[in-house]
Formats: sequence, structure tokens, C-alpha cells
Amino acid sequence: GSAFDTRKEYILVTGGTGYIGSHTVLKLIEEGYDVVVLDNLSNSVVEPLRRIERILGLKNQIPFYEADLLNYDDINAVFKKYRVSCVIHFAALKAVEESTREPLRYYDNNFGGTVNLLKAMQENSVKNIVFSSSATVYEYSGKDSYTEDSKLACTNPYGRTKLFMESVIEDIYNTAAGTDKQMNAVILRYFNPFGAHPSGLMGEDAGQLPNNLMPYIAQVAVGELDKVHVFGADYNTKDGTGVRDFIHIMDLARAHVYSVKKTSENCGLKVYNVGSGSGYSVLEMIEAMKEACNCQIPFVIDGRRSGDVDKVVCDPTKAERELGFKVEYTLKDMCRDLWRWQQANPHGYRTKAEKSN
Ligand code: NAD
Ligand code: WQD
Repeated sequence: GSAFDTRKEYILVTGGTGYIGSHTVLKLIEEGYDVVVLDNLSNSVVEPLRRIERILGLKNQIPFYEADLLNYDDINAVFKKYRVSCVIHFAALKAVEESTREPLRYYDNNFGGTVNLLKAMQENSVKNIVFSSSATVYEYSGKDSYTEDSKLACTNPYGRTKLFMESVIEDIYNTAAGTDKQMNAVILRYFNPFGAHPSGLMGEDAGQLPNNLMPYIAQVAVGELDKVHVFGADYNTKDGTGVRDFIHIMDLARAHVYSVKKTSENCGLKVYNVGSGSGYSVLEMIEAMKEACNCQIPFVIDGRRSGDVDKVVCDPTKAERELGFKVEYTLKDMCRDLWRWQQANPHGYRTKAEKSN
């Protein structure tokens, strides 16, 4: 819009019906933002938006566009209709192993989709973006923790799409830096999010055979899967199993609200780790979940999963210093909330029959 555009301002959330997106939409609305959601529903359903409306007692439905970022005209239409002050860009495919089998699909969707989105932003003079990146962009170093200027390198197509997209954002930022077209971009490198909204009404819908550890453990806890397969107990860690930096989904969602605010303060280009700074092993996570649900969680030790490393933990101090962001939820909270969601929704947002389709 022009300088005289007096329409209400919106935050456009791509991938806003997905796991991290939906929890962020809830947080944004709680903080008083108006939100418009775009998603092609390739890995989600619309139901989380209904749950947000229920949790917050909203009178109107959250505006939702079923659109694919690969269709430029569809994105452009959303920008024409809504005056967007900032985009939070979650929409992407995210399964590491799948990306090694179908790299073109990942490059096309994640990279192509992002290029289209950035073009539409330029076309409509939308300057602010918050981008979902990942701890996976760090080159494995065996160090205790990663800072934002640790070396970057990726070993799989999924990770490379994230690294490329960071570079694209940096490139277009540089072309306009210092001019009246200057962008503001906050790149967030998430560590390992899990957990659910404390109401138990929203959480991660990870499908029948989850790729990630915590949704898998939750499916075992609720009796949908037999046992956890621990991928390697011969790592150089406290108990031999992999160590990761876990963060509660509601903390991660809050980091996005802070980032949107940061872009509105003309921050330029910023990169932040979003994690707790503490590492827990796979066995510690099984134990923590066992306590939260007060049930047995059978497991077996299997071989290592290809591409995995022993330890990935962040240094969270930059986000704390510049964004004022610090995690509030503990590991116990994360497990409690995951369990509450999983128990109430053993098949996620779908029924069992829908899920097996
Ligand atoms: P998710 O799959 O639940 O959400 C992504 C959403 O994007 C889905 O709803 C999907 O339907 C949508 N989408 C995908 N391609 C699209 C397209 N071309 N057009 C429109 N919509 C499209 O995943 P999530 O866990 O919520 O992850 C969100 C973002 O965070 C992703 O970019 C992911 O790579 C990144 N990330 C996730 C994790 C994690 O552990 N979950 C860690 C680091 C980074
Ligand atoms: C955690 C630990 C496994 C499953 C991935 C992506 C990363 C980011 C977050 C998107 C490891 C072990 C796992 C299982 C197991 N996503 N494990 N049994 O690999 O740290 O990160 O998700 O950007 O890019 O790579 O997360 O949950 O898959 O694994 O023993 O069934 O649990 O070996 O040590 P990871 P994860």
C-alpha cells in the first residue's frame, strides 16, 4: 500500500496451520496483532485455527487462504487484499530423510516458494520478514554450543534449502540496506521444539510414524507404537545417546512475537538462535516423558541414524541480549504439555481413519 493507506495492518503467516505456525498465530493474536494465514495444507489441516478461536474466544474466524507459495498470483492476491506489515515465513517441507530421496521437491518447494514470496513482498513494498531457519545450518564441530557466527555447512538437501534461503534474504537485504527500501529481517535458527499448548487443544500432528524423537516417544506413551528406537548409544555424550537442545513450543512461538516487534524497530538483518542452551540425551528424554505420563516407555537401542551427530546445543545469549528472549518453560513442562495433548488427541487433529489415509 501507499503511505496514505489507512487499512488495518496484518501479520501474514505462511505455513500458519502447521505446528510452529499455529502456536505462533495464537501468541500473535494474544498480543493484539491481526493475523492472516496462508498454507497449502500439504502437511496440516485447518482445525488448529478453530482451536485457537476456541481457546481465545474469538468472535470472528481467523482469515485463512489455502494457497501454495509456488503460485505467485495467489500470494500476490493476499498482499493486494491485506495491508501486511510483516511476514512470518514458516511454510516449508521439513523432513530431512525425505529430502535426501526427493531433493528437487525440496528445492522447488522451499527455495522456489521463498523466492516467490520475497518477490511478492517487493512488489507490494512489504519490508519486514521473520524467517524459520534451523540449527541444522551449523557445521558440526563437536563444540559445547553453537553461536550465531559458528561456521555454516549442511549435509542434506533440507538443510541446504535453509542455508540458501538465509543467503537469499541476506542478498536482497544488502541491495536495499541504507535506502528507503531497506528491509528488516530476523532469521531464527530453531533448535529442537516440542510440547503443546497447555490447554491440550493444540499440538504437533506428526503423522503415524513420526521422524522426530519426542512425537515418537509420545506415540509410544499413548500406546499407538510399541517401543522407541534409540538411534545409537555409542556417541561421545554423558550416556552415549544423542544430546539436543529442546525448547517448548510456546516459548518458540513467543520468540516470533518478539521478532516481529524487532522488525518494526528497523533492526536491519539479524540472526538469532532460539533454544534453551541446555542439552538432554535421548535416554533422559525417555525418562522425563515416563515421569510426565506415569507409564512405561519401552525402548531398544538400535544403530545410529545416518547424518546424526552426538550433540547439538545452542548458545542462547544473543537472543537474550538483543531480543529480550529467554525460555520460561522447563523440560518437565514440555513433557507434561506434550502428554496432555497426546492423551486428548491420540491421532492429532484427525480421527484414526483420516490419519491412515
Ligand atoms: P509443519 O510442516 O507443521 O508446518 C509447515 C507448514 O507449511 C505446513 O502447514 C505445510 O502445509 C505448509 N507448506 C509447506 N509448503 C508450502 C507451500 N509451498 N505453500 C504453502 N504452504 C506450504 O512444520 P513446522 O514444524 O511447523 O515447521 C515450520 C518451519 O520451521 C519450517 O520452515 C521448518 O523447516 C522450520 N523448522 C522446524 C523445526 C522443527 O523441529 N519442527 C526445526 C527447525 C526449523
Ligand atoms: C533427536 C535425537 C536422534 C528419533 C531434526 C532436524 C533438524 C530440526 C529438528 C528442522 C537424535 C534421536 C530420534 C527416534 C532417536 N528440524 N532419535 N529415535 O535430528 O536433532 O533434528 O529436527 O529444521 O533440522 O534434523 O531431531 O528429534 O529427529 O532427533 O533415538 O525415533 O533423538 O538420533 O539424537 P534432530 P530428532
